[in-house]
Amino acid sequence: MSEALAVAHPNVALSKYWGKRPGDGRFPAVPSLSVTLAGLATHTRVRFDRGLADDRVVLDGLAGDVRTHSRVVELLDRVRAAAGEGRRAEVVSRNDFPTASGLASSASGFAALALAATCAAGLDWGPHRVSDLARRSSVSAARSIYGGFVELGVGPPAALERDVLAAQPLAAADHLPLAVLVCVTTEGSKAIGSSEGMRMTIERSPYSRAWLDEAPRLHQSLRAAVLANDFQRVGELAEASALAMHASAIAAGVIYWTGATLQALSTVRALRQEGTPAFATIDAGPHVKVLSRPADAGRVRDAMQATPGVERVIDARPGEGATLASDARETL
Ligand code: PMV
Repeated sequence: MSEALAVAHPNVALSKYWGKRPGDGRFPAVPSLSVTLAGLATHTRVRFDRGLADDRVVLDGLAGDVRTHSRVVELLDRVRAAAGEGRRAEVVSRNDFPTASGLASSASGFAALALAATCAAGLDWGPHRVSDLARRSSVSAARSIYGGFVELGVGPPAALERDVLAAQPLAAADHLPLAVLVCVTTEGSKAIGSSEGMRMTIERSPYSRAWLDEAPRLHQSLRAAVLANDFQRVGELAEASALAMHASAIAAGVIYWTGATLQALSTVRALRQEGTPAFATIDAGPHVKVLSRPADAGRVRDAMQATPGVERVIDARPGEGATLASDARETL
């Protein structure tokens, strides 16, 4: 087969990855744990075609920018090398959620691309190898291969470039009842890309060592809380992980927060004071994702929607991992 269509979903990290290991390869310096979200999807079709002189990349109907194009070609080159495939490819991808929503489209995008490209090239790889391939393009993409609660470790210390590092499923989507309310703030675009932000944090932050020491501890506790089905503890630890990550970044001048981010954080605190358990997490942007119990999601959503600077609230739930579509020719 030389054509395949894959669907993948964004994920939100509860314990954050922030910082790469020194050296080559995209190896995280700290472990992370995420939840894959249902209802939001990236559809990506890859077609290897003898008639193409160059790889072609179309994202949401437009030619991919230079940086995206080269990241896609890099992944295709890895697949071509593994499969002995000489042909160029056409990649057509569409997100059904707003790319400015603060949901990492690179996670669902590279997960869908890795799955579609390996299948189109005829590689019979299991999810473990596909996750490793996705990780080489975007670390968080490794986690979107799996559904539910997903973990990504740091791998063995030596000779990492030669080793495979893939995410691993920890618990099914229905293991812990959870609502993830994505609060999209008005100032949407990312000031500093995540790789650049991480590099600056590790190089310049007086607190980067503290983050690198604390993140694995938070991760272990969060992992235990997920397995114990303890929503309150999961929420507290997820918020602590996000705040610690941002504290170390802010000290390096890597500031993703805006006034709306702080307003949203204060609504989350007010909800808690009124007795509604709600916890915030923030990625490399100004948007805030609020974790609540599904039964409280309506009340939390209303409070977040009424917060100055919050433009829209997307109500997401844990969902499934990346899959192949049965009909690769489905319209995108
Ligand atoms: O996978 P990247 O390079 O886009 O980095 C993602 C970093 C965070 O979203 C902030 C945290 C995480 O673990 O997803």
